[in-house]
Amino acid sequence: RKQFLVHLKRLLHQGNNMSLNEAKRIAAYKAVDEWIKPHTKVVGIGSGSTVVFAVDRLAERVKTEGLQVVCIPTSFQARQLIVENNLTLGDLDRFPHIDCAIDGADEVDSDKVLIKGGGGCLLQEKIVASCAEKFVIIADYTKNSQKLGEQYKKGIPIEVVPLGYVPIKAKIEKVFGGEAKLRMAVSKAGPCVTDNGNFILDWHFDSSKTFDWNKINSELLQIAGVVETGLFVGMATKAYFGMSDGSVKEQN
Ligand code: 5RP
Repeated sequence: RKQFLVHLKRLLHQGNNMSLNEAKRIAAYKAVDEWIKPHTKVVGIGSGSTVVFAVDRLAERVKTEGLQVVCIPTSFQARQLIVENNLTLGDLDRFPHIDCAIDGADEVDSDKVLIKGGGGCLLQEKIVASCAEKFVIIADYTKNSQKLGEQYKKGIPIEVVPLGYVPIKAKIEKVFGGEAKLRMAVSKAGPCVTDNGNFILDWHFDSSKTFDWNKINSELLQIAGVVETGLFVGMATKAYFGMSDGSVKEQN
């Protein structure tokens, strides 16, 4: 009965977004159940709306199964989620090896190349993912594509040092084409500032072209002042997509 009421509350809260949120939830629950095992000790916690469901499920399992996991956050939001759910908060100083990191994505292509950073957390997300033995992606069906740019229309997020954003923007546009737009804060009063005090350029590329994302990622990282890109190439172990029919699609 208690479980039913919790579920009902969740559904009412979700309102119009119910099916998308339900798609996120089923992907998150499945990933947590398949990858977090009794021997799992250190878990990376990604950022965004889908990860909220993963933390819900993890907290539930910690309570019911007595799992003993330390959680490493990828953002201020993730840190808050860990604390609010009474999970054990850790950091990379003490836990540099992560068994499994679970995170959302803005888009996942057929090779499991990801666009991340829609929420501005790409730098810490990439650091945490790079320390994880397994990196598991959870998403709703709108993130699943054949080719990057097919679904996510806001460009590839690139975190840059503030003082260099104008020349970096010019270089990106000259070398790679398209437009690198400075991301503004929601209030529009100024630029969006990341958890690390940097700016974000969203690079809008010509999605009709075919790109070698590994090469693009390396070349972007060579521009002085580029801190990290939201291109995650060859990092994801597996992706779970909650589908509109209530099933979960798995991509290995
Ligand atoms: C934040 C991210 C998120 O993982 C990505 O934006 C997906 O978020 P959501 O689960 O809300 O769709 O990369 O920087």
